[in-house]
Amino acid sequence: MSKIIALANQKGGVGKSTTAINLSAALAEMRKKVLTVDIDPQGNTTSGLGLEKDGAENSVYELISGSCEAKDCIVELKKYHHIIPSNINLAGAEIELTEYDDTAYRLKNAILEIKEDYDYIIIDCPPSLGQLTVNAMTAADSILIPIQCEYYALEGLAQILNTIELVKNGLNPDLKIEGVVFTMFDVRNKLSGQVVENVRANLDEYIFNTVIPRNVRLAEAPSYGIPINEYDRLSVGARRYKKLARELVKKEG
Ligand SMILES: Nc1ncnc2c1ncn2[C@@H]1O[C@H](COP(=O)(O)OP(=O)(O)OP(=O)(O)O)[C@@H](O)[C@H]1O
Ligand SMILES: [Mg+2]
Repeated sequence: MSKIIALANQKGGVGKSTTAINLSAALAEMRKKVLTVDIDPQGNTTSGLGLEKDGAENSVYELISGSCEAKDCIVELKKYHHIIPSNINLAGAEIELTEYDDTAYRLKNAILEIKEDYDYIIIDCPPSLGQLTVNAMTAADSILIPIQCEYYALEGLAQILNTIELVKNGLNPDLKIEGVVFTMFDVRNKLSGQVVENVRANLDEYIFNTVIPRNVRLAEAPSYGIPINEYDRLSVGARRYKKLARELVKKEG
């Protein structure tokens, strides 16, 4: 059974791409067949996994605009880890997408034929709740929401939960919330602990036991184009993403 998980939070810089990169790599290391799909025009997941941002002939842009099929834009990074890269052309897609009759279903329909080739398809969303994110939510089985452990963490959470609810009520009735994962937790900062407690008290959704700490190795790895399990596999960041992957798999039962 294949599972499509979208990493979404309209807040910028909360750890969506870092989680897309390293959760994908950790799952692949567990010999799960993983496809990472980068639908953010910024292309951070694409470059973080070692591909040139605008190097791909066929990217997610060509995929959703219908000029190539999924199998023709997949790049094999490892035996168990494949990617559909992003490309700057995607920046215009938000507007172009509205021209289609099946606007919200472009990504879903485009990856349908390859879905069952993978155990997990991990989609990295841009920091907005626009058409690209809606496409990801329509294609997904579930949404994983990274929350940064900072004072304004709860701000904007209602908005994303509301968008998920809207998609559930129309475009994708089976959509689930996979849960919330805390990122950039700082043990030396009292606030981090308070944020976690506050979200736990206010949110009914599943909250992952595994918390991702602030770890400089996680911030360094993308500049080498490799995930944390290759850059520094003994770092606390690598160990936590491995733990997160295990928790995700175990949760499925
Ligand atoms: N656990 C962490 N420890 C240290 N630095 C981190 C951690 N997670 C992410 N970062 C750094 O924080 C910045 C933002 O992270 P990231 O790009 O993953 O967020 P994002 O939600 O994808 O951002 P955007 O909304 O712009 O797409 C990056 O520079 C990243 O390297
Ligand atoms: Mg990102």
